[in-house]
Amino acid sequence: MCGIVGILGAKPVAEDLVDALRRLEYRGYDSAGVATVENGHLERRRAEGKLRNLSERLMREPLAGKAGIGHTRWATHGAPSERNAHPHMSENVCVVHNGIIENFRELREELTRAGAVFASDTDTEVVAHLISYEMRKGAEPVEATRNALGRLRGAFALAIIFAGHDNLMIGAREGSPLAVGHGDQQMFLGSDAIALAPFTDKVTYLEEGDWVVLHRESFEIRDRQGRKVERPMLTSQASGFLVDKGNHRHFMLKEIHEQAEVISHTLTNYMDMAAGTVRFPDLGVDLATVPRITISACGTAYYAGLVAKYWLERYARIPVEIDVASELRYREAPMPEGGLAVFVSQSGETADTLATLRYCKAAGQRIVSVVNVRNSTIARESHVVLPTLAGPEIGVASTKAFTCQLSALACLALAVARARGQLSEERERELVRALVEVPRHLTSLLRDERRYEELAHWFSKAKDVLYLGRGLSYPIALEGALKLKEISYIHAEGYAAGEMKHGPIALIDEKVPVVVVAPNDDLFEKTVSNMQEVAARGGQIVLVSDADRDSIGCEVAAHIRMPALHPFVTPLVYALPMQLIAYHTAVLMGTDVDQPRNLAKSVTVE
Ligand code: M6R
Repeated sequence: MCGIVGILGAKPVAEDLVDALRRLEYRGYDSAGVATVENGHLERRRAEGKLRNLSERLMREPLAGKAGIGHTRWATHGAPSERNAHPHMSENVCVVHNGIIENFRELREELTRAGAVFASDTDTEVVAHLISYEMRKGAEPVEATRNALGRLRGAFALAIIFAGHDNLMIGAREGSPLAVGHGDQQMFLGSDAIALAPFTDKVTYLEEGDWVVLHRESFEIRDRQGRKVERPMLTSQASGFLVDKGNHRHFMLKEIHEQAEVISHTLTNYMDMAAGTVRFPDLGVDLATVPRITISACGTAYYAGLVAKYWLERYARIPVEIDVASELRYREAPMPEGGLAVFVSQSGETADTLATLRYCKAAGQRIVSVVNVRNSTIARESHVVLPTLAGPEIGVASTKAFTCQLSALACLALAVARARGQLSEERERELVRALVEVPRHLTSLLRDERRYEELAHWFSKAKDVLYLGRGLSYPIALEGALKLKEISYIHAEGYAAGEMKHGPIALIDEKVPVVVVAPNDDLFEKTVSNMQEVAARGGQIVLVSDADRDSIGCEVAAHIRMPALHPFVTPLVYALPMQLIAYHTAVLMGTDVDQPRNLAKSVTVE
């Protein structure tokens, strides 16, 4: 993972590098560093922990160079410490890296034999020493870098500067994203356009195997074979992006509160509100005859995909295969001829999802992606992109991106259902109307947030929490458990309610809160039976339902009263209490809600 940035500027660049890193902190935040070329020498400052530690260090020990690189880290090789923080240096080369150099051990042994002295435990440091090694053999920086790149295996985005070269920076991309930003007599490199937004909106995305040589006044991109190539210069939409919590205490809370609005935007993109119909882009396949839909994603995005599976099977009567991306590819799942594969990702950069997309593409599937970041790699490698209009999501715990993914996927399910003759016009209008009402329900539920602060006192004392749901509520139970564990660090598991008696029921005692996601739908009675099983064993039920608590015939410790909803849209609305339970519990426990330990927003390593 990690975020990288580079600037060939007109003034000292350290402050701008840190500003750009702030926008990349979602990619990792366990240490950070910058380096510049100062009077021909390489000078760097690094700090363990959050970016503010680096900023403080730079106040005490400023850097004056006008050419520099920066990095915010999510540790893969070597503990999160200052010595492992990037940039990494040899005597005349300084490098920042996002990704993993798979053959770093053999390179490190070879370079050590040749006299290199390593100062960190990282895979990255070999890159600096390898380029230096090539330079010692007589190569100039560009040629030395080209030779070194040819020896690296794995995934990387690199930004490299050189002692004695104040007007040279080299970037390379193999498996990890890298954008070139074009300024006025200035050049930039960044893991994404958001990092570069304060400086320029003119960006060029490198393609796999590309590397770029930058000078302030010019740039040249070459492909893996060393041929000069042209890549389009785009105008990025990222410039309007502000890293701003508004009046909210955390980004996560702000993003929870934005949901009504961004769901409306996303739905509007896929519907004709006036006609009460779905208006969907041509996916380039005949939805009436497509044999199967394969869905893949990771984490919360996977749970959105799981909801879509239930929707597509029930409403469109189409077979759906779904698996987490890290499994689908490696189990070599066979793909049907003429199949459609749908990938769901907020960042559009998740390495497992991207690799599985490529696997399905190679297997002849039509690739559709539901992504939030418009120009992301997953978006660019898809045949059709279905954007979610959530806006930038900064909190590591996904909230508004999830409900926007559900919104787009709900419309997809209706489009497929219509194409397959499973949806009358009247039924379509009924389901569209139900979707249109979702933002209103969210707004009114958010008026009662105090309730969750009270519940948080109880949850914060629990060591384990179980979440149960059936049918469309099962993925929401899984999502509820993920939200709680990732930001509060309380152990939580989601189960299909009917599976309880096959093992997990052994965990139940009076200290375990059991959150039951149970809209009053056609499966409600079945879930009631499971609640009774829990209650009979002393389990403390938190009922999330529109049904009366008296209707379940057993004791309920707490009842989060939900509005009566059309069963089709319950996942979109029931996601909210899951988010609020997790958020308020984490706040009470004093964890770092927006940047929980060990995590990163964008997971660009497999
Ligand atoms: O960017 P993506 O949607 O592809 O990310 C997938 C997961 O890493 C992500 O949903 C993760 O599970 C979140 N931290 C959950 O809140």
